[in-house]
Amino acid sequence: MRRAAAAVCAILARARDSIRIGMPTAELDDIIAIEIKRRGGTPAFKGYRGYPAVSCISIDHELVHGIPSRNRLFQPGQMVSIDVGMFLDGFCGDAATTLLLDDGKWSIDDPRWRLMQVTYHAMMEALPRVRPGVRMGDVSSVIQRYAEEHGYGVVREYVGHAVGRQMHEKPDVPNFGNPGEGVRIIEGLVLCFEPMLSAGDPGTSVLKDGWTVVMADGSLCAHYEHMVAVTETGPVLLTDPEIIQPQRIYGTGTRRPNHNDRDHHRGSSLDDVPCQDR
Ligand code: MF3
Ligand code: CO
Repeated sequence: MRRAAAAVCAILARARDSIRIGMPTAELDDIIAIEIKRRGGTPAFKGYRGYPAVSCISIDHELVHGIPSRNRLFQPGQMVSIDVGMFLDGFCGDAATTLLLDDGKWSIDDPRWRLMQVTYHAMMEALPRVRPGVRMGDVSSVIQRYAEEHGYGVVREYVGHAVGRQMHEKPDVPNFGNPGEGVRIIEGLVLCFEPMLSAGDPGTSVLKDGWTVVMADGSLCAHYEHMVAVTETGPVLLTDPEIIQPQRIYGTGTRRPNHNDRDHHRGSSLDDVPCQDR
């Protein structure tokens, strides 16, 4: 599980650094497909219930499951969610981030940036609660409370999930709930937490392509996905926060150093990932 998680993170980092303004979103999917193969993995999404691509690329009011397209170009100002799943040595890795394609108008109180931050931190506030014996609602309720206290809606129609030899295993991992309710979390599970928050009403609808989930009221939304192992001593994050956390990129091959400076001072975690052709 560790290696599958590290591999999806490395691929998300590569995807982030490959985005260019004007690039069709399907081209990013091509890059991700090549990276999955290069690392000896196989795509988890392609063919899953007929899904046609290896990644989901969901922009602005699109929440999840956006199908990469040859006709859709990355543009400044977009909020881009990239979700990647792959099998490696029999185990599934599944992770997602939302990036802001900087349009030069950014400021610290940018509403898009605030939504991204709150979505990510709703999850990070909840994760320390994960341990054997607690109920799912003890964790989920923290995500919901954090989101709602910050004025955002929590999507109900889609939830996180356990992950293992298959991408979607039981139990579900909702982003809403009540303390003391829900299934008991047990040691050995790996859980995909995937908060999905909206700036407006949290209701969603699915586009005619049968996949793309959008906010029904057209409001902005954000989505992050971390993999967390439940151990005797508590939660262990299998996916790298430096890659999953909110980041601003320019889409020119450079990115803001302040939100991801780990590469500069202690070498990239990507170097640790076993990779067949290195
Ligand atoms: N991370 C998403 C999930 O856990 C992605 C699934 S996309 C699909 O459901 F195409 F595979 F369905
Ligand atoms: Co998932």
